[in-house]
Amino acid sequence: MTTKLAVFASGSGSNFQALQEAIERGELHATIELVITDKPGAFVVTRANNFGIPVVELAPKAFENKVAYEQKVIELLEAHDVDWVILAGYMRLVGETLLTAYENRIINIHPSLLPSFPGKDAIGQAMDHGVKVTGVTVHYVDAGMDTGKIIAQGAVDVVPGDREQTEARVHKLEHALYTNTLQQLFKQTFA
Ligand code: GAR
Repeated sequence: MTTKLAVFASGSGSNFQALQEAIERGELHATIELVITDKPGAFVVTRANNFGIPVVELAPKAFENKVAYEQKVIELLEAHDVDWVILAGYMRLVGETLLTAYENRIINIHPSLLPSFPGKDAIGQAMDHGVKVTGVTVHYVDAGMDTGKIIAQGAVDVVPGDREQTEARVHKLEHALYTNTLQQLFKQTFA
């Protein structure tokens, strides 16, 4: 059985692209049925179009409240028969409506060794603190900010004073770790 995914992203979508490429190489046994972005016009839309994957641009502000926004999201997920929600640079807290509908089926990747440096600009936060080692965390999503149960982590040496190189290292690890972790997770779930 192939696991059906929806990827949520707010920005560039490099993690989305890495997952889709892993699927095409046969390293991740899943299909991305749908991409949802809360930032209309984000570059992830172009990437999804390039792969011919359906993408929905949904501005939360267009809805009366968060519940109504998430109800629309759930409607889309159900219409595409989605099994798991994969957050990949989705910069918004998931609310109870979606958490309840996809309990233990929402996964996030975060560019730090959680619980250090949750929230925005985790790489900047780590460099400002002068840490020598940072990394990447894949975790279940709960109602908090990057607080859910940790599934996998990997470490990256900071390149002192060089944000660009540090970021490149983090992203490279993210792309590999997300693929491997999801593949293991889906294998366990359906074993
Ligand atoms: C990634 O580094 C991801 O870990 C981070 O946003 C970036 C998105 O990059 N997510 C968070 O900070 C979530 N708290 P991408 O759009 O190129 O995949």
